[in-house]
Amino acid sequence: MILDGKQVSSAIKASLAAQVSTFPEKYGRVPNLAVILVGEDPASQVYVRNKARGCEAVGISNSTYRLPAETTEPELLSLIGQLNADPAVDGILVQLPLPRHLDEHKVIETIAMEKDVDGFHPGNVAALWQKRPCIVACTPKGIMKLLESAGIDPCGKRAVVVGRSNIVGLPVAKLLLDANATVTVCHTRTKNLPEITRQAEILVVAAGRAKMVTADMVSDGVVVIDVGMDRDEDGKLCGDVDYGSVAPKASWITPVPGGVGPMTIACLLENTVQCFLRRL
Ligand code: GUN
Repeated sequence: MILDGKQVSSAIKASLAAQVSTFPEKYGRVPNLAVILVGEDPASQVYVRNKARGCEAVGISNSTYRLPAETTEPELLSLIGQLNADPAVDGILVQLPLPRHLDEHKVIETIAMEKDVDGFHPGNVAALWQKRPCIVACTPKGIMKLLESAGIDPCGKRAVVVGRSNIVGLPVAKLLLDANATVTVCHTRTKNLPEITRQAEILVVAAGRAKMVTADMVSDGVVVIDVGMDRDEDGKLCGDVDYGSVAPKASWITPVPGGVGPMTIACLLENTVQCFLRRL
């Protein structure tokens, strides 16, 4: 069966739109999200456009700051500083990856924690790992909602995460652990990867390698979450999972596109509303 991120995200967006429509009367304004894109990475341009469209669909006001690739660090930090200080801005998102001359950690740390809709600020990350209230990163949060929408309870299950990034692998491993799964995190240096992935009842793949998970690497009945956004040999959009061969063995699987991607956007919008409500 298909874990339909498009459908689940539409339901979340409809509910957010209804909520946001009551804000002008209640609070005199709607939430506002500032999105910063440095450079012209084609994938990032698509993501940023989809984020703006998502905002518009639920009535969140938004501005996208498109900065040239040569933007200096002081220039970028100064823009973030202005947005931090602007009471009309509820959320700030800097699209990653940044051009190499910019220090990602420094940039993320500069974003005010209470406006960090991505949940990437060290304060939010620490709070997640200590089970304190925090803003949870959008993709991991979206994955958990997708599982929940299908009635898949990770409690007691063996979950395997392929990938250990700060954006997806590590936080989703923590959320699965908090949901009482037994979690294994695999990465590029993992030995006998197929042996480990075959033990998974829930398999989350966020490795960034086209079709790297093949049918021989999964067991019958597995729930597969594919976070990949890759291109295959023919330049066609595909995931980290070889959908054609893996889907027949899976009990549930996310398509690419239309799986995790739309959930990330829905959770970004939810986080923006959360930041707005917290700042009132
Ligand atoms: N690049 C890839 N995923 C993300 C994300 O969730 N947020 C931001 N800001 N950049 C990303």
